[in-house]
Amino acid sequence: MALRGPRPALLLTLALLAACVALTIGSRWNPLNDIFRKEHVDFPKTVATNNNAYCNKMMWSRVMYWKYSNTFIHSSNEEINKVCTTDGVASGPYKFESKNPFNITICTFNPWSISYTGVSVSEKIVISCWNALPVFYVKNR
Ligand SMILES: *[C@@H]1O[C@H](CO)[C@@H](O)[C@H](O)[C@H]1NC(C)=O
Repeated sequence: MALRGPRPALLLTLALLAACVALTIGSRWNPLNDIFRKEHVDFPKTVATNNNAYCNKMMWSRVMYWKYSNTFIHSSNEEINKVCTTDGVASGPYKFESKNPFNITICTFNPWSISYTGVSVSEKIVISCWNALPVFYVKNR
């Protein structure tokens, strides 16, 4: 009899606590965004003597030498995340085009020199978003 009172209250508290933890973890647990940041975000831009040196340095340090081409965005995560919400325009399923240009460096493997060639431009970016976070880099335009 004595335990009947507190038990439901305790269970309810635990259930609410568990729900809060699940929601908090759930909204942040986005491994594709972790990969996106590793592969595409470099802010501030890592120092290198030129863009080719930059690309060779970055493609090796980020373990992406298996990729033919890759783009690095030189803006903070906050700025890039906004493309998924206020600073982007929907351009296809889950796709958003940034309203403003970003400083980016495009690295492409050159089989003749067996090294990467880098080009820096300021262009709009198109990314895929999930849960209001970037998950794939689509292209620049
Ligand atoms: C791009 O880079 C230029 C030169 O470094 C800088 O002045 C400008 O603020 C940058 N633009 C953005 C959107 O970060």
